Amino acid sequence: MDAISVIRTKRDRGELSPEQIDWVIDAYTRGEVADEQMSALAMAILLNGMNRTEIARWTAAMIASGERMDFSSLSRPTADKHSTGGVGDKITLPLAPLVAACGAAVPQLSGRGLGHTGGTLDKLESIPGWRALLSNEEMLRVLDATGAVICAAGDGLAPADKKLYALRDVTGTVEAIPLIASSIMSKKIAEGTGSLVLDVKVGSGAFMKNVRDARELASTMVGLGTDHGVRTVALLTDMSTPLGLTAGNALEVRESVEVLAGGGPADVVELTLALAREMLDAAGVGDADPAKALADGSAMDVWRRMVAAQGGDPDAALPVAREQHVVTATASGVLTRLDAYRVGVAAWRLGAGRARKEDPVQAGAGVELHAKPGDEVTAGAPLMTLHTDTPEKFDYALRSLEGSFDIAAPGTAHEATPVVLERIA
Ligand code: URA
Repeated sequence: MDAISVIRTKRDRGELSPEQIDWVIDAYTRGEVADEQMSALAMAILLNGMNRTEIARWTAAMIASGERMDFSSLSRPTADKHSTGGVGDKITLPLAPLVAACGAAVPQLSGRGLGHTGGTLDKLESIPGWRALLSNEEMLRVLDATGAVICAAGDGLAPADKKLYALRDVTGTVEAIPLIASSIMSKKIAEGTGSLVLDVKVGSGAFMKNVRDARELASTMVGLGTDHGVRTVALLTDMSTPLGLTAGNALEVRESVEVLAGGGPADVVELTLALAREMLDAAGVGDADPAKALADGSAMDVWRRMVAAQGGDPDAALPVAREQHVVTATASGVLTRLDAYRVGVAAWRLGAGRARKEDPVQAGAGVELHAKPGDEVTAGAPLMTLHTDTPEKFDYALRSLEGSFDIAAPGTAHEATPVVLERIA
């Protein structure tokens, strides 16, 4: 077997054999296949695709590249959620303790943000003392004691994906449905969850810009999970406008705590409850009532215990950025569009996100929205507040917000886009 013949097969639109796939993933993980050869193969896959049989084998080979976790010692069924990433997507924060409060165990291995979408670990790290890095034993201990854990995936889980994802990131090969599906599902299957709910985002702020591509990604992932014995369901959800009223690390933690306290923006609450119901159903605890667990404080209790178990102080004040800049409405009327991608880029430029994996993030930076599509706004009144410790970045962020919203004449009817667009099982 050699890398050039594998690349040529896919370059010439052929089907990779199981032996070719097993060999190339293993050899790449061991360093025998060079980065430039894997980049050529990833580009050939992006351009020419893979069929379901190839994707299933590719995923299995990536799982086999590392360890598999086992939660069978827990007394509760496990349920996990994965989002393909969006702007203001803080849902994991209220969702994990909520589902735990309803009776399932939630082992949530999360990532850091890259580019315009935020990362769950970056958000939680704005809580003083909170630690993302846990050993497998610590992770099990927190999960057993509190019902939920949110932490970084260990190096042993699907190492082939770690290496390949970093390569795709710098070679323009992230946006390939077979590679996205196998990347996400290899980690989730290796993690050992019994059930999984996928939140596949659609719209300007998401990887998938249209429903057709999102549907294909979702059904590919549902098929992979089901074939590996993981009960898997996907929701396609709207990401044309930011979720909630905040995009930025500490700002999003604050909003998540509001949801856990029984308040928070309607779209965040709606999506949190929709995903919670799917997770509980998939885990076989479908008779629990997540709305009640938000209202009666039991989800908040789990949140506080979970944060404390990972070294965080749930009562500590969250960091606030040193400088603020208010963007005002340019006219009076109805806000009909507020673009997720542009708001995400602004939050990133203000310091909430990173351009390279090793860059630090600012805990307090981000964008706070004062109106959402459908709201009436008044000329000169605040529309968004930008937060940063580095005010020289305001101009750069403001440039990304040019053309980010439309205001129609007062009284214009606005048809709201539903939060949940489709369910795929
Ligand atoms: N998230 C992942 O884990 N992998 C991808 O390929 C894309 C998003």
